[in-house]
Order: sequence, then structure tokens, then C-alpha cells
Amino acid sequence: MTEPSIVAQAASAPGKETTAVDATPDTCISPDVKLGAGVKLSRFINLYGCEIGDNTKIGAFVEIQKNARVGKNCKVSSHTFICEGVTVQDDVFIGHGVTFINDLYPRATVAGGRLQNENDWIVVPTLVRRGASIGSGATILANVEIGEQAIVGAGSVVTHDVPSRCVVAGNPARVLRRLSSAAGAVGEQ
Ligand SMILES: CC(C)(COP(=O)(O)OP(=O)(O)OC[C@H]1O[C@@H](n2cnc3c(N)ncnc32)[C@H](O)[C@@H]1OP(=O)(O)O)[C@@H](O)C(=O)NCCC(=O)NCCS
Repeated sequence: MTEPSIVAQAASAPGKETTAVDATPDTCISPDVKLGAGVKLSRFINLYGCEIGDNTKIGAFVEIQKNARVGKNCKVSSHTFICEGVTVQDDVFIGHGVTFINDLYPRATVAGGRLQNENDWIVVPTLVRRGASIGSGATILANVEIGEQAIVGAGSVVTHDVPSRCVVAGNPARVLRRLSSAAGAVGEQ
């Protein structure tokens, strides 16, 4: 796991939202993005219309779309895509190259042949609950909930809800085991 090289940091007082960030030309942050205090951003990111909570770190080449929310104290590793309709609660780890999905039957065009726009399809939501971890290369299909402190194995395809404090892996992802309720940090048994 690599730490992102941080190029921008939101500097507002704790608890206050800001859109002002000392971004470099190779970051793309639209003015409607809401950043909490102490958010750390790497280079080559693309953020628009989204909300990111205090102290969260976003790695390089991450895209986060409008109406997506990432909570406080999260780590989002490089090359991850978080689409519209995804809510990530606090303390969540997201590995490298994780892909979320919000449309199970996508089409490029409507019947008449023009390109689809956002009025032609419905965003299907996804929720990642507090303290969960998603391994690198996982794909999270639409309309699923990943439970608190659950762990999704690298390369998994998550097609159903993941119960809290469970480790799941594979395609489709299946429960490997349950973590002890006495466990502390994510990853302990
Ligand atoms: C799933 C994971 C958490 C291990 O969980 P675990 O409960 O300790 O599982 P084990 O290692 O005991 O493996 C149990 C079985 O699942 C399999 N397995 C483990 N990880 C798997 C994965 N990602 N996908 C598919 N199968 C997996 C193992 O091969 C083993 O199968 P076997 O019994 O047939 O040999 C870990 O392998 C993983 O994928 N972690 C994510 C790491 C990551 O992406 N980090 C990102 C930052 S670098």
C-alpha cells in the first residue's frame, strides 16, 4: 500500500466546510466540491459536486462524481472511481483501483439514437458503512450495502449486501468468515 503524495490540503477550521483548496494545475476540483478541514489531496484527481469529510486522504488519479459523499478520516487509494449515488461513511479504507457502479443496465443511447443524459436513467445508490475496508481492484455493484467494519477482499465483485464485521472475497463475493465482535481495528481477528 502506498501513501499518496499530498499536494493540497483544505485549511479551514475543524468542522467548517470549505471549497477553497490550494490546488495545483494537475488537480481538477470544481468549485461545488465541499471539503472538510484537513482533507489531503494527491495529484491528478478529478472531483466535482461531491462532499469529503475532515481529514480524509484522496490518492492520485481518483475520480469522485457529483452527489457522492465520503465521510471523515477515510483513505481512498489511487485510481479509485466513486460514482454518483455512493455514500461512504467515516473511517472507511478504500484500496487502489476500486470501482463503484450506479447503473446495472447501462446504455449509451436512447431508442431514437441520441446519447443518453442524466434524465434517461436512474442512479442506484450504494452505502459503505463506518469502518469498512475495500480491497484493491474490487468492483462494488449498485444497490448494495457494505456493513460496518466489513472487509472486502482484493479483486472481489460484490453483488449482494455484505454483513457487518464479515470478510468477503471472490466473484461473486462470498463470506469467508466473521470477525470477532471484540476485535479492535479493522483487520484484527
Ligand atoms: C480477503 C483477505 C482480507 C484475507 O481474509 P482471510 O479471512 O484472512 O482469508 P485467508 O487469507 O485465510 O484465505 C481464505 C480463503 O480465501 C481465499 N482468498 C483470500 N483472499 C482472497 C481474495 N481477495 N479473493 C479471492 N479469494 C481470496 C484464500 O485463497 C483462501 O482460500 P483457500 O482456503 O481455498 O486457500 C485478504 O486476502 C485480502 O484480499 N485483503 C485485501 C488487501 C488489499 O486489497 N489491500 C489494499 C491496500 S494494499
